[in-house]
Amino acid sequence: MSNKAKLTVGGKEYEFPLVKGSEEEVAIDIKSLRSVTGGITTLDPGFKNTSSCESAITFLDGEKGILRYRGYSIEDLAEKASFLGVVYLLIFGDLPTEEQLAVFHADIKSKSVVDDDIKKILDAFPKSAHPMGVLSSLTSALTAFNPASVDVSSAEAMYNTVVKILGKFPVLVAWTMRKKQGLPLDYGDNTLGYVENLLKMMFKQPNEEYVPNPIVINALDKLLILHADHEQNCSTSTVRVVGSSHAGLFASISAGISALWGPLHGGANQAVLEMLEAIREDGGDTKKYMAKAKDSNDPFRLMGFGHRVYKNFDPRARIIKVAADEVLADLGIEDPILDIAKALEQEALQDDYFVQRKLYPNVDFYSGIIYRAMGIPVDMFTVMFALGRLPGWIAQWKEMRNKKEPIGRPRQVYTGSNQRSF
Ligand code: ACO
Repeated sequence: MSNKAKLTVGGKEYEFPLVKGSEEEVAIDIKSLRSVTGGITTLDPGFKNTSSCESAITFLDGEKGILRYRGYSIEDLAEKASFLGVVYLLIFGDLPTEEQLAVFHADIKSKSVVDDDIKKILDAFPKSAHPMGVLSSLTSALTAFNPASVDVSSAEAMYNTVVKILGKFPVLVAWTMRKKQGLPLDYGDNTLGYVENLLKMMFKQPNEEYVPNPIVINALDKLLILHADHEQNCSTSTVRVVGSSHAGLFASISAGISALWGPLHGGANQAVLEMLEAIREDGGDTKKYMAKAKDSNDPFRLMGFGHRVYKNFDPRARIIKVAADEVLADLGIEDPILDIAKALEQEALQDDYFVQRKLYPNVDFYSGIIYRAMGIPVDMFTVMFALGRLPGWIAQWKEMRNKKEPIGRPRQVYTGSNQRSF
């Protein structure tokens, strides 16, 4: 293949170089398009055909259903790695040695105290507030309490900012949930592992000793690994674009949380569970809901199905489906909505509408069933996703800053009125 792409506009021919990724994916480098053509741009709503950056973090092939972090398959990582090991891998590029992981964990723990005044901000929210809005606000507020975190000009300063957010974020997650439940807000236990500590902060009752459940710890660890990065998705692109103005890491992540909140993105896990519940309450007639999903006059969509980039099984969905079966069996829970989910999946995989559009279950289709089995409230599901995605956001933000990427500022094709007299 030639290493150039040719473009002809108005009889004039222009050449642009091709860029090849390490997995042979090809992109046309149009950085010089406007300058050489005298102002022509490309139009690509939703960025369906646009690579916004070159990135060495996550590879995914949506046609083949492949997902790898730093070269390691998601299947291997889910089976063999710990969440904290994956956090290190994503952010620093290689799997940690035991010693590196211990130092990293100790540094995170040393930064895990959140200023007590943050509780006053939490106090101002109504109990009805959605946890994602609360978490986004608290994360943004962290900058006010840690103004030095915005300076990441040295490797040491960058590291300090990274371990600070990794230490404080689980506290904000736990407080967000507990405040809503009227439970006291406490700090973590530095003798515990990262995920176990989070669970204790979330679930410890004031009048009872907290007893860790290894099944729940392992299942959550795996779920967090599966959510840890997904290259340039909506929330990650948001984090990179906000950070490209040199806004701090905490502010950028706060924006990423808002992007993740929407039901077409991370909010789908809550939407899936609500949909499955609604189908159950309506008598469990999955065929009726399949028909609604296919009806172009009906706004109903089968939540947890379809993906912008996967036109094959989402590899994370395969792992989560097995995990859902295991966790429910291990915890001795029989959840009728798991049967509804399986029935919907079977029907969709054999249905022409879904087959032709290559709509497969995505990561969110089964995750909510596991979260529910763990006792996590439905409106906290997307918060759990945010906690899982945190390392991906950090890694992508750090990569963007280290590469000194230009500020994200797309163009537009103006379609409004021409000049009018006032
Ligand atoms: N149920 C029914 N029809 C669907 C669904 C669905 N879940 N998803 C897509 N379609 C149909 C569309 O109606 C469209 O049909 P048409 O060609 O006849 O108009 C076609 O499939 C293509 O859909 P688009 O919306 O154009 O695809 P896009 O890539 O823009 O959207 C998205 C992807 C947002 C994920 C979409 O599939 C969807 O809304 N799914 C449900 C929400 C969901 O599960 N989101 C989580 C995604 S994973 C994540 O973010 C972590």
